Amino acid sequence: MKLLAATIIGLLLLTGLPFAGDWHTAGSLDCRECHLQHGSNQRDPTVEGAYSFLLRKSSINELCMSCHDGTDPTAPDVMAPTPMYSSTPSEESAAGALLFPGILNPNGHTIGIALSIPLQQVPAQKELTCVSCHSAHGNGNYRNLVTDPAGTGANLEIVLGTNVFVENRPDIPPTSSGSIAAYNRDNVGYVSGMSEWCVTCHDQLSTNSFASAPAHFNAHPSNEALDAYPADGHTDPAHWVAGTGEGFAAIGQSVASPRVPFLAPGATDFPTSRAATATSRVACLSCHKAHGSNYRKGMVWPYLEENDNTLAGCQQCHNK
Ligand code: HEC
Ligand code: HEC
Ligand code: HEC
Ligand code: HEC
Ligand code: HEC
Ligand code: HEC
Repeated sequence: MKLLAATIIGLLLLTGLPFAGDWHTAGSLDCRECHLQHGSNQRDPTVEGAYSFLLRKSSINELCMSCHDGTDPTAPDVMAPTPMYSSTPSEESAAGALLFPGILNPNGHTIGIALSIPLQQVPAQKELTCVSCHSAHGNGNYRNLVTDPAGTGANLEIVLGTNVFVENRPDIPPTSSGSIAAYNRDNVGYVSGMSEWCVTCHDQLSTNSFASAPAHFNAHPSNEALDAYPADGHTDPAHWVAGTGEGFAAIGQSVASPRVPFLAPGATDFPTSRAATATSRVACLSCHKAHGSNYRKGMVWPYLEENDNTLAGCQQCHNK
């Protein structure tokens, strides 16, 4: 009876949302994908359990990975490698990829192991799961990102059409081609809110540390515009806007990387959110993939590896 009541309340809450993520949310939240009713469905070979909260798998990470590990061609693959994006220009998704739960990931976030949170003022251990960052039942945010990742009472809104723009929404019901079009890196333009979301857990970076002239900062700033200090020439906005030469992919050049992600604060639609200008802002996601990458610390390009592309991302903005 209690579960039934919770279910009904849940359903009422879920259908009343004004904005939403694109899947597992009001209208597209199918309880049976994740929960058993009586555990009596002996004919379904994917059923193991029931486990706590009547989940179909024994842990949340395993439950989510059961579709998101590349085995379900319609579900965006979040476990490295992710061949589903090989036909797209960047060959990767916006968030990048994680490793299997319980494996230490030097190239981004580790899930399923308790580790200390780096760059956090009060030392703390945290075992990340998918629902540390995504609401299992959907909410008003882009990609169902949780509104209070660090449990500080925050209510962070990252709303599609305001803080983030996308060109293609995923197909409903899901298809493989629709998911590739919706979740690949070049389908997203960022406006604001993402760095604020990351620094709830990494709060040492919640403000930029300013330095005395001629330096501007004590550590790399985020949410700062390329043309913030036009007289000093630390950045090269014209080079950034042109998008060719040092650091960019260009014919005949060995040192090359696709344009790194950035914030476009004045954007009003998808094209303006993707247009590089002198007022483009560097942010956490310019340098780190949210899940992880093929490079150490989840870097967008191989900055901590020794190869020809080590400085590519830096050069796109600084051109030194
Ligand atoms: C994408 C997977 C997924 C779907 C779909 C899903 N759930 Fe859940 N549900 C979970 C997970 C994971 C938990 C455990 C949450 C946690 O530990 O934060 C949970 C917990 C619950 C709980 C207990 C905790 C709470 O929040 O009250 C209820 C009740 C519940 N779900 C009801 C539903 C109903 C009703 C539906 C369909 C409308 C549904 N769920 C659809 C993944 C899902
Ligand atoms: C819910 C809390 C939480 C949020 C939100 C969060 N992180 Fe983390 N982050 C962690 C924890 C815990 C670790 C340490 C364990 C690990 O390496 O995954 C970590 C580690 C990292 C690392 C080091 C990874 C490595 O390979 O050593 C980077 C880089 C990072 N986070 C960047 C980000 C960025 C960028 C965002 C926003 C997109 C973000 N984090 C959001 C909790 C969080
Ligand atoms: C540390 C926080 C964090 C954790 C842990 C995390 N995610 Fe994400 N995830 C994000 C963020 C932030 C985005 C949006 C990134 C962007 O658009 O740049 C995202 C995007 C996604 C997407 C959209 C596709 C893509 O690759 O861009 C899916 C699907 C997804 N996550 C599923 C999962 C699943 C499943 C898990 C657990 C196995 C998980 N996430 C764990 C933060 C996290
Ligand atoms: C039964 C398979 C299945 C399971 C289990 C599942 N997902 Fe998904 N998920 C999908 C599919 C399919 C899509 C893409 C929907 C589309 O293309 O329309 C998706 C999309 C998503 C997205 C992107 C939503 C958006 O707004 O675009 C996130 C985030 C996500 N899943 C997280 C999770 C998390 C967290 C769990 C575990 C609690 C989970 N999923 C469990 C199949 C699944
Ligand atoms: C998306 C653009 C972008 C990328 C990528 C980028 N930066 Fe920056 N960087 C900026 C902006 C904007 C500032 C602030 C403007 C200023 O200090 O004049 C800045 C400031 C700096 C400063 C501080 C200057 C000062 O006086 O305090 C240094 C040093 C720096 N960046 C080095 C790097 C390195 C090294 C990399 C590669 C790991 C990098 N940047 C990647 C945009 C970027
Ligand atoms: C200009 C590129 C750049 C930007 C912008 C940037 N980072 Fe980093 N970050 C790095 C590099 C390079 C490293 C690895 C070397 C280091 O620790 O200094 C790193 C390391 C980290 C680590 C791991 C530290 C450890 O001890 O393992 C975390 C966590 C992190 N960054 C989070 C963030 C968050 C959150 C933001 C946004 C507020 C952000 N970064 C913005 C380049 C950047």
